[in-house]
This record gives sequence, C-alpha cells and structure tokens, in this order.
Amino acid sequence: MNTIQDISEMNSYVIELRREGVTIGLIPTMGALHEGHLSLMEYAKRETDIVIVSIFVNPTQFGPKEDFTEYPRDVEGDKKKLETVGIDTLFLPSASAIFPDGFRTFVEVEGISHIMCGETRPIHFRGVATVVLKLFNIVRPHKAFFGQKDFQQTVVLRRMSDDLNTGVDVVVLPTVREEDGLAMSSRNKYLNQDERKAAAVLYRSLRKAAEMFEGGERSADILKKEMHAMIAGESLVIPEYIVIADPETLQEEQEAGEGTVIALAARTGKTRLIDNIIL
Ligand code: PAJ
Repeated sequence: MNTIQDISEMNSYVIELRREGVTIGLIPTMGALHEGHLSLMEYAKRETDIVIVSIFVNPTQFGPKEDFTEYPRDVEGDKKKLETVGIDTLFLPSASAIFPDGFRTFVEVEGISHIMCGETRPIHFRGVATVVLKLFNIVRPHKAFFGQKDFQQTVVLRRMSDDLNTGVDVVVLPTVREEDGLAMSSRNKYLNQDERKAAAVLYRSLRKAAEMFEGGERSADILKKEMHAMIAGESLVIPEYIVIADPETLQEEQEAGEGTVIALAARTGKTRLIDNIIL
C-alpha cells in the first residue's frame, strides 16, 4: 500500500490517474478502523478502480469540550487493516497541512447543521463539510463512500456536494453492528463493561419502533414514547434526542411513513452514541 502525506503529491497522483481513465473512490475516516469502516472499503473496491482511504482526525469538527485529544489513534494498526483489505493508497495528511496558519474558509450547510446532533455540537457539521470538501478537492474522487450510521452527516455532505457542484457521487452504505445490535463506532472503546451492555438498548429501541411501524403504528409521538420508555429501563443510558424525520430535509414528521428516518443520540457515561434506522 502506498502512503501519501503530502497534499501536492496526492494531487499529482490523482491527476495522473484521471488522465489514464482510472476511476477513483475515496473513503474519508478518522482512523481507529473497525468492521464498519472496512465494509465501506470492501464495497468501494467493487465500484471504482482505485480506492483511497484518508485518515485525518479533524480538529475543526470537535467542540472545545469534546474528545479531540482522547480520540483513539492507531495508525500502525490501521495500516495493517488497510493492507488486509487490499487498499491501494492511504492519505495521511498532517493537521498543519490541512489547516495551516491563516486558514479562514468554512463551509456551512444551512438549516440541517444545527438540529439533531448540531444542537449540542454547533460547529460539528461545519467542520465535517469543510474537511470533506477539502478532501474532495485534493483527491478528486469519482465516488465517495459514507456510512448510514452517521445519518445526518450523509445528509449534510450530499447537500454540500450537490450545492457546490463537486461532481462527486456520494454513496451511503448500511451500518455494521455488533452481535447485540450496537452500531460499531470508534467511540465504543470508551465504554466500560456495564455501559457497553446497556448501550445495546439503543438499537433494540429502534427495532421496536420499526416493528410497531410494520404493525401499522404511524404516530411519531407514540413511537418515540415507546422508545423513550425502553431506554429509560437502562439507567446508564441517557437519551439526548429521538427524532422521526424526513430523510432528506431532516424535518420532523408527525406521521412516520415508508423511508422515514428514526435517529437518536444518547449518552452512556461520558460517551456519546448515535444510531438510526430507515423505515
Ligand atoms: P469516522 O467516524 O472515522 O467514520 C468514517 C466513515 O465510516 C463514515 O462515513 C462513517 O459513517 C462510517 N462508519 C462508521 N461506523 C460505521 C458502521 N458501524 N457501519 C458503517 N459505516 C460506519 O465520520 C467520520 O469519521 C468523519 O466525520 C469524516 C467523514 C471522516 C470527516 O472528518
């Protein structure tokens, strides 16, 4: 596997690939890779000729009181995983290369960046949209692959990519879960044994709502009430929000329908977890 740290080197590499007619897939990550990340890679390998994975723990998407410094980092372990999956190129830029002194330009996707996760993380999606646009400009991918696990992120990034005519096809892939249903996440490493066990209630509550929907229940209030009641059964899990919303606008709906998203965020100890399903 080829590792590139330098932005201009990456630029020349992809320009040459494009000249040769090679299609490029990009998977942006913050590292601490798990099966969820690897599933995006397996899929991408079937879709584009070359797959480039970026690892960059993006400081601009973490709030001042968030876990930027503690965020798990394991570049050597990650490299081994990327080799096993057969990734062509790793892009591993430094923070000072991506955000040099004097950096002043941010991308704000209005309306959908300050609801849901954006209520407690007001600068998060601005940081995500900015870094991903930069990665699109540096890597010039034909397609970029993201996980449904971060549902709001996919909505923000699709909007950004369309609004700014990046020409990148944003592809969203299913959430990979642990055996008990907990969505895989680099942050699951923070959970102690009791918290880890309790956290499985989140997916159980989503499944319960989906079952009620399949049984004919349409009222968003009733579905949310049931989910809150289930989560309340686990004292270690404190919900932050549960929303039932339109999957493109993220506007809340009174009545759930086919394609509606149910998304939630919760705290387990100090760890913030998110999950969602599409009905
Ligand atoms: P990170 O959390 O490392 O996730 C990288 C990609 O892997 C994202 O698209 C995320 O949705 C996907 N992913 C994470 N857990 C997954 C799971 N259990 N199943 C399927 N896909 C999963 O998301 C980010 O990094 C950053 O915000 C980033 C987009 C890289 C911008 O900095």
